[in-house]
Amino acid sequence: MEMIDLNRPAPTTEPERQYYFIKKVQEYVKAQSEKLGRPLTANITTFGCQMNARDSEKLSGILREAGYVETESEDADFVIYNTCTVRENANLRVYGRLGVLHGYKKKNPNMKIALCGCMMQEATVVEKLQKSYRFVDLIFGTHNIFKFAELLAMTLESDRMIIDIWKDTDQIVEDLPNERKYAFKSGVNIMFGCNNFCSYCIVPYVRGRERSREAKDIVREIEALVKDGVVEVMLLGQNVNSYGKNLEQPMTFAELLREIEQIDGLERIRFMTSHPKDLSDDLIEVMANSKKICPHLHLPLQSGSSRILKAMNRRYDKEKYLALAKKIRERMPDIALTTDIIVGFPGETEEDFQETLDVVRQVRYDSAFTFIYSKRTGTPAAVMEDQIPEDVVKDRFDRLLKEVQTISKEMSERFTGNEETVLVEEKNSQMDGYVTGRLGNNHVVHFEGSEELIGKLIRVRLDECRGFYYMGTMLDK
Ligand code: 5AD
Ligand code: SF4
Repeated sequence: MEMIDLNRPAPTTEPERQYYFIKKVQEYVKAQSEKLGRPLTANITTFGCQMNARDSEKLSGILREAGYVETESEDADFVIYNTCTVRENANLRVYGRLGVLHGYKKKNPNMKIALCGCMMQEATVVEKLQKSYRFVDLIFGTHNIFKFAELLAMTLESDRMIIDIWKDTDQIVEDLPNERKYAFKSGVNIMFGCNNFCSYCIVPYVRGRERSREAKDIVREIEALVKDGVVEVMLLGQNVNSYGKNLEQPMTFAELLREIEQIDGLERIRFMTSHPKDLSDDLIEVMANSKKICPHLHLPLQSGSSRILKAMNRRYDKEKYLALAKKIRERMPDIALTTDIIVGFPGETEEDFQETLDVVRQVRYDSAFTFIYSKRTGTPAAVMEDQIPEDVVKDRFDRLLKEVQTISKEMSERFTGNEETVLVEEKNSQMDGYVTGRLGNNHVVHFEGSEELIGKLIRVRLDECRGFYYMGTMLDK
């Protein structure tokens, strides 16, 4: 990067423009901490999915580059919430916590509070914040997160609430700083947005239309990550199976995986999320033949009832889903299948719910995320008749959870006694002298070992399955 001269106007091209503003914030942070005689602190809270987690690493990269010291405490000079709005209760939590932040701000008048992410893309949310949460300093959405440095600079210079929400974008800005949470693994965005419009889901409205990154940019990013010590990547997209359709030179997800597989030094490839309607035979082949792609597939079911799936606009039915799961298991018998299920979608009858239980029993998931349907204003399902009473939904939810947990315990047992490779992720928080890692199939293993193993791929024997995790022993010490 060339020398940045703050006496000249900000560049109009990206990412140069953002580096200019990072420098500007650096000067502010330096002056302010000299005045206060202490470093300026920043705190980031992330709600929601892996996509948000990755976005927060970008926020973190910019804050650190600008000179802020990150802290665990929300009693900080700069606090930002990266919000989620997939379900209503995520929104309620944000409002609740803002009250606490207001208390900190009264004690520290220099404190700045920022909100970003999916929830900010909803007009009603921003109206409410403008009216009742005047102490918030900065609000921006999902489409202009690349502008964070610029918005931060504006916020530090202003006493007014700054709001910058874009309705959509086709822009993808490459090469901004980011700060990984883990040294040895990283999320990598391969596409943004979603075009599926499942009738319950707010994501297409808050994350915009589908846009894929160029394969060469993705590969370049992963190569740089590997040089920096990363051995595992998680390729991120709302629907990775439709990767590349809108590129100038279209390319499939399976083709992208083949290219990523070639990257020397990269050991493990994960991805999320696969929509069952577009999962190709080619992808199954690539996975089956790969040494690096982990034997795990997250394949959201949502409902087992063909009637409900149609109302959800999922574009597959029960039979098609079951046939797909069977095909995957036949080709890769040891694969772990996981899923997302919603109970209480409008119009769901006991019979529909039984269909869901039936799929759960047939597919036998290694684990499943179960959700109570949450009405999202603006989605087609929100105005559907026959919303299900709370007590009925709760009862179904409890029965589903029990079934899912019983099966997932039984499924975990099938690997007991095996010798497998784990990527060690952290020190065990409960047991001294133990570490915790993940198998390729995403199952968790605890075993005796020292902190030096973190980030390494280690052979272990799975001695005992304790429900949702294994106790293991390290081999070839
Ligand atoms: N209510 C409940 N769960 C939802 N999900 C998405 N939208 C809703 C909603 N309105 C779930 C789906 C999706 C997961 C990320 O969140 O199961 O796969
Ligand atoms: Fe939402 Fe469906 Fe898109 Fe997933 S595929 S983000 S559930 S609309």
